[in-house]
Formats: sequence, structure tokens, C-alpha cells
Amino acid sequence: MTINEIRTKYLEFFKARGHTIIPSAPIVPLNDPTTLFTGSGMQPLITYLLGEPHPQGARLTDSQKSFRAEDIEEVGDNRHTTFFEMLGNWSLGDYFKKEQLPWFFEFLTEEIGLDPKNLYVTAFIGDEKNNVPRDAESAEVWRKLFAAKGIDNEIVEIGSEADGGRLGMRGGRIFFYEAKKNWWSRAGVPENMPVGEPGGPDSEVFYDFGTPHDPKFGDNCHPNCDCGRFLEIGNSVFMQYIKKEDGSFGLLPKQNVDFGGGLERIAAASIGNSDVFRTDVFEEIISLLEHFSGKSYEDSRYQRSFRIVADHMRAATFMLGDGVRPSNTERGYVLRRLIRRAAQHAQKLEVAQDQGAESMLNRAAVIVMEKYDEAYPELAGEVAYKEITEAIWNEEKQFGHTLEQGMREFEKMVKPDRSGRVAGLTADDAFVLFTTYGFPFEMTMEIAAERGISVDVAQFKKRMKEHQDLSRAGSEKKFKGGLADTSEATTRLHTTHHLLLKALQQVLGPHVKQRGSNITQERLRIDFSHGAKMTSEEKAAVEKIVNEKIKEHLPVIRSTLPKEEAEASHAEHEFGAKYPDTVSVYSVGPAGATQDDPQFSKAYSIEFCGGPHVSNTKEIDEGGVFKIKGEESVAAGVRRIKGILQK
Ligand code: ALA
Repeated sequence: MTINEIRTKYLEFFKARGHTIIPSAPIVPLNDPTTLFTGSGMQPLITYLLGEPHPQGARLTDSQKSFRAEDIEEVGDNRHTTFFEMLGNWSLGDYFKKEQLPWFFEFLTEEIGLDPKNLYVTAFIGDEKNNVPRDAESAEVWRKLFAAKGIDNEIVEIGSEADGGRLGMRGGRIFFYEAKKNWWSRAGVPENMPVGEPGGPDSEVFYDFGTPHDPKFGDNCHPNCDCGRFLEIGNSVFMQYIKKEDGSFGLLPKQNVDFGGGLERIAAASIGNSDVFRTDVFEEIISLLEHFSGKSYEDSRYQRSFRIVADHMRAATFMLGDGVRPSNTERGYVLRRLIRRAAQHAQKLEVAQDQGAESMLNRAAVIVMEKYDEAYPELAGEVAYKEITEAIWNEEKQFGHTLEQGMREFEKMVKPDRSGRVAGLTADDAFVLFTTYGFPFEMTMEIAAERGISVDVAQFKKRMKEHQDLSRAGSEKKFKGGLADTSEATTRLHTTHHLLLKALQQVLGPHVKQRGSNITQERLRIDFSHGAKMTSEEKAAVEKIVNEKIKEHLPVIRSTLPKEEAEASHAEHEFGAKYPDTVSVYSVGPAGATQDDPQFSKAYSIEFCGGPHVSNTKEIDEGGVFKIKGEESVAAGVRRIKGILQK
């Protein structure tokens, strides 16, 4: 069955059982500053799970676009994807276990046609410490469902995943696991839940593909084993608890069901193939890549790359459809990584360069748009087509420049000496290629291997770790001193803060230096060196410049470069502060500056800074007009300005 057929069947099935079909929320959360992407069906519905009445009633069903950035590195096996559709059905204080479990069972066996003998289920073993009882009720519902089909229905105790490896199946059909496996909340197990967070025990359904157990994952197989024999295809969360102030659990005002089903995984079960990349959308992208590369997906040397390109291009297309654009911060950065990683792996497959303007990645995106445009209208139509393909094409081009530049540096680094001998690539060389030129380390390794050049990998990894620790320390310090958080409002004010410092220097003189800063979602605050109270003309002049720069919609670019180079570019930095050898710098403007060509000498503002920032001052423009709300003295020779963005 195809993805589209299964989605339609699912929504119709629950509609026939009194549910209202609601559209997917965007992959970019609307009112949730705590997370970059929607990662599950319940996120957009959280207020209703907490008790607010939903305008469309107490029974809802949907298919939610979801993205889990933490899974990027996992992509490559037969089942991990970054983007997926989560089928949902919701009871907001309406039905509960004895309706939910039979419905899902019926859907799988009658609508999709899965053989119930291949289904295995789990339930929550109970948690005395938190006073949450064992979910004997779900186990009992399952027992009856399997019995009615004449299938063995033994209940077996497991506990942890390690216990599972030790104990194995033991003839079970229904398995009790601990909270790590059978409790669901956004924060995971009960101990990790913050006060006010809803959660509850869950019951999962696994499909058995009957593949042999791989002992790498434990002595014995069991439903939650990761060897690939079992695939989780659905999870019914009984969202009934809330964490209270004193750390104990109370009941929510309503006993809810939050069901999440992996659409692609159900499709994989329906075709009896444990590889989700064999389902229709991926299959089409993979055929395309096979055609243009002359390589086979079944060739184990290339399978991972096929999967990465297919997964990443589907995710990137959906992100672009929801308005994300490649940049160096937050969502834009994740998107940039997806496209660049896909480009890198397409190169690994040596897909033939297409003649026309259409790149291979764009061809993949077009397959995605055509497959999904009926269910997701944001991917339909000329405008979407044009915007999505152009964004991918531009990003590929930019990445191409990055690679060319990196290659040139690489060649310099491995130039033979007079006797024709090529020294190995030092860890420092590889480090500079990566941090200064954005050249992926994997590529450095590959090209070096092709040419028989050695690379000091261990030393490189050590340097990377030092670098990451330093920048982490730097940004922690920065957040403590400067930013209250990294929400959009705060980020806008942070970039405005850079513009303001520069404008103050223009109006009051080059003696103006930053002496302190603090930024919240509501306002920015800057302390700076200046001996006199500002006149109203000076304040008006500063406001005017800042607003002009905002209106010019200037690009904001983050560059990572050696400290000396950054200092030479006269980037603003804190006097006396200690900086690592490699620093991050943000420049604003000029128009047309890009990551590859930041044009520091023509930038309006340039500062040593860990970010985050908007990627274009246009985003500040969307937040309002800059206004100075106060100017006062805080110490001898130090003034303080508070400013806001006003709609
Ligand atoms: N909220 C549950 C999950 O994401 C259904 O698995």
C-alpha cells in the first residue's frame, strides 16, 4: 500500500468513529518557543491535552508532519528518518483504553491487512516510586483481542531493555516493560518531567518481520530489541497524569488518548519489508539515484548514501514548504545541513551532473512535492515549486563554492616539497579546512585516502573537541551575561543591539565601546562608554540610522575564522576579554554579502559574537520599529540605553 492510501484509510477509519479530521500543524511550531521543530503529533495539541476544550470536539484525527533533528546522525539504517508523518487519533477526555486498542488493532488487521500473528504488543509495568500502577487493563484488552483471532496471548514480564536481551520472548505476545520503554511525555521518563508536564503510560504495537536475530544487540530478541526484526508501528499514550509542584503525579482534568502511528513504518509492514526506504516515496527517489549513478541500492557500499539523500531531501522539501530557508542559525542551519549532507552523499554516489538547471537534489524534491501535494497543499502549485527548487539550487551552488575554496586550500596544504615528497595532512590543516572553510571532514578524509595521504584523525578529533568545549563555554557565558533566551523576539533584539552599537559610534564618536548588555524578549539594554547625557537630537539620529539599516534588509552573516584575522577586520570585541584561537564573528551587510563572500570591509557592523542572530535584518523589520525607551547614567563615563521594537 502507498503512503497516500494508508493516510486516507486511517483518517477515514477514525472519521467513521466520530473523529473530526484536523489538518497538520506546520513543522515550525507556531506558539512554542521551547523547540525548533514539531516532533510529534501531541505538540500542537498540548493545551487541549491539559484541559482546554478543542473547538472541533473531543475526538480528533490527523497526520502530523514531524521532524526530529536529533535523528540526523541515525539516518542510514533501515528505519530512522528525520522527517516522518505521525498518524494521530485523540480522545480529549472521551474514550479510553478499551476503545483505543481495539480500534488500532482493527485498523491494522482489517484495513491494512496485517497478519495479527505478526503483531506483538507492550504495556507499562508500573512504577511504585511514583505511585503509578501497572497497566493491567491494557494487557487484558490485548489478551482478548488476540484470543478472538485464535492467537496465543501470553503475558510476559520483561522490565528493561537489558532484561529483554537476557530473558528473550519466552512465548509471549504481550510484554510488560519499565518507564523507559512504556511511558511517554515530551521529557521522557517520569523523573525527567518538569512540573506541569503531562504524561502517561503507553502501549506499543510492534510488527515482526521474522528476520533472524542479530546477537550484536543482546543474547535474545524481544519486541524492544534494536536488531531490526521488530519495528514499532504505533503507540497509544494514555495521557492522564501531570507532574505536581511537590514532584508527585496527579490526574489531569481529562483522561486523554494520544495515539501516534508511524505512517512510513505501517507502510513498510504492509509490504512485508522492514526497510522503510522500500516504501513508495523513497523508492522513487532511490530509483532516480540508481538511474543517474549507475549504482545499486542493494550494494552495501552505497546503501547509506542512498538513504541519506532520500531522507534529507524529503525533510528539506517539507521544511522549505513551511517557509524555512537555509541560514547559519537555528532552523535555517538544520535545513542547510540537510541539503549539504544530501549533496555530499549524492556526490559519493557519483550521480551524473545533469545538463539543465535541474539538479539531482531538485529532482528528488520534485518527486516529494508530487507525492505529497494533495495531502499537503503547501507543496502544491507553481509558487511553491519555484521557491523550493530555487532555494535548493542556491544552497547547492553556495556549497559548491565552499567546496571549491576548500579544495584549493587542501591542494596548498598537500603541495609536495622540493624532493617531491608529500607530507601528511596535519590535524591543524584539517581543522582549518573545517572551521575556516566549512570543508566537511568526511571529504577531507576521503580525498586524502584516494591520494594515499595520511591524516592525523585522533589529533583532529581532539582539537575539534577543544574547539566545541570552548565555543560552548563562550556561548554559555554569553547567554548568562547577555541573552535571556534564544526566542525569535530576543534574537531580533540581539541583532538590533549590534546595529545600535555601531550607530552610537557614528553619532557620538569612536570612543563608544560596549560595557555591558542584557537582552530579553521585551527589550534590549546596552551599557556603553560616553561622558555626557545624550541630547534628544542625538537619540533621534541614532534611532533613525538603526531603522534605516533594518529597512535595508541586510544579510547577517556568521563567519568562523582565526582570531588574528577577525581582529584585522576590526571586528568589535570586548576589551580585555580572552578569546579562543578561532572565533565566531557576525557581520551585518553589505547587501549581497554571502557566507562565502562576507565582504567584511564593506559590512555595516562586525562584532565578535557567539550569536544567535537573525539571518537578515528583514526579520527585525517584521518585529517592528526600533525605539529608545530610556537613556541614563550607570557609572562615571558609562551610559545605559534601553530600547524596544514597537509594532
Ligand atoms: N506522543 C506519542 C509519540 O510521540 C504518541 O510517540
